[in-house]
Amino acid sequence: MQFEVFTLLPEVFPSYLDTSILKRARERGLIDVRLHNIREYTHDRHHTMDDMPYGGGGGMVLKPEPVFEAIESVLGGAADSSACPIILLTPQGRVFNQSIAAELSQLPRIALLCGRYEGIDERIRRHLITDEISIGDYVLTGGELPALILIDAITRLLPDVLGDPTGAEDDSHAMGLLEYPHYTRPPDFRGWMVPNVLLSGDHGKIEKWRREQALERTYLKRPDMLEKVDLSESDRDFLQKLRSETKGH
Ligand code: ADE
Repeated sequence: MQFEVFTLLPEVFPSYLDTSILKRARERGLIDVRLHNIREYTHDRHHTMDDMPYGGGGGMVLKPEPVFEAIESVLGGAADSSACPIILLTPQGRVFNQSIAAELSQLPRIALLCGRYEGIDERIRRHLITDEISIGDYVLTGGELPALILIDAITRLLPDVLGDPTGAEDDSHAMGLLEYPHYTRPPDFRGWMVPNVLLSGDHGKIEKWRREQALERTYLKRPDMLEKVDLSESDRDFLQKLRSETKGH
């Protein structure tokens, strides 16, 4: 999968992209992250990227010309077709989640535009951008961290990226529930024991315990998620039991 990243700060990306799973995915050709410095598409002596807002007010606005030129010259014909979405990272976008990550992971190529300054010229949004994504209801100084977050969440869903083929399937959110707790050796750490069921070797029991732990955690920490998930008969019974137990606490 190819990521085309348009940014004023390409230097913030390499340290993260050169680490761990993303590094390996890049080395193995599973992803290709291309960084494009929008500043290189300015033509005046001072490489002017921003200008004062029409109508007054504080802050500077990202100019349209270098952004259009950068994206059109990199994407060519793909810039005006649906072949490659052009995604603006902005607090005004749809809020990123696991299902958006899964949707984007199906595409061969996506473009990410990182905003900076007070805002971007509205004509970029209207006539160039095809999608807007926010990583949450707070405001950052720019879209670079959000772009890295998208790249990370999408990459780990691609085939062959994670060593364990079931790695992404059991994740928190992947199955619509928070993940069950994990333990490794030692079995006794400072008197805190690994639950017996995990040492039992009984895979049926372990599966059941994990499912119930995932349900319980989701019920306690993110009850909103339970409204969207497919629950089996036994899931429902378990939740009913939990509800009656926690009532009055
Ligand atoms: N740029 C600034 N804040 C942002 C956010 N919350 N999500 C995406 N892009 C942003």
